[in-house]
Amino acid sequence: MINPPALRLGDRAGLPDDIAFLRADYPRGDWRVHANFGQLADFWLQVHTSLRHEGSEVSRVVDAFRNRQLGADEFQRAFVPRLNGFLQHLDQHHRIEDDAYFPKFRKLDERLVIGFDLLETDHELIHERLVATVEHARQMIGVLSSPAAHQAADAYAVEAEILLDLLLKHLGDEEELVIPAMLKHGERPLF
Ligand SMILES: [Fe+2]
Ligand SMILES: [Fe+2]
Repeated sequence: MINPPALRLGDRAGLPDDIAFLRADYPRGDWRVHANFGQLADFWLQVHTSLRHEGSEVSRVVDAFRNRQLGADEFQRAFVPRLNGFLQHLDQHHRIEDDAYFPKFRKLDERLVIGFDLLETDHELIHERLVATVEHARQMIGVLSSPAAHQAADAYAVEAEILLDLLLKHLGDEEELVIPAMLKHGERPLF
């Protein structure tokens, strides 16, 4: 019997075998050489790679400000477009997954339903942290030219780290559901 609170993103250590039930048959290292590895799987992994990169770029810029390597103006010019781009891409990606793709995965095999419900719940949690991160970003930008700027940047960094940590866990878990399902069923039912 599954205990849902223990499966909450941030509390779970990866997906249990009964949810990621295709993982053992389709190990990550073999994905790209599988005959059914196609454009959609490749695109999915590329989007995840780019989200990881965008998230780490935002952190890099914030750390440069916190370490006094960037001044307030320079920091604002580097930070605002990077954060906006990252969060927009993240939000768009989750919307497409929730609305277009996850319903199709659920139809492939009823045993996949619980996993995709879990991923959708992850999205809600990540969205809550995204909203909190935006709020901290606004507060930080509002005091950038004041003595409180670095303290606000430290507070922002704590919040952003929670978001990034959850996101990285979610992306890894999602890949272990999505890619094995594509390899088993092919990509055609997902278009
Ligand atoms: Fe997702
Ligand atoms: Fe995703």
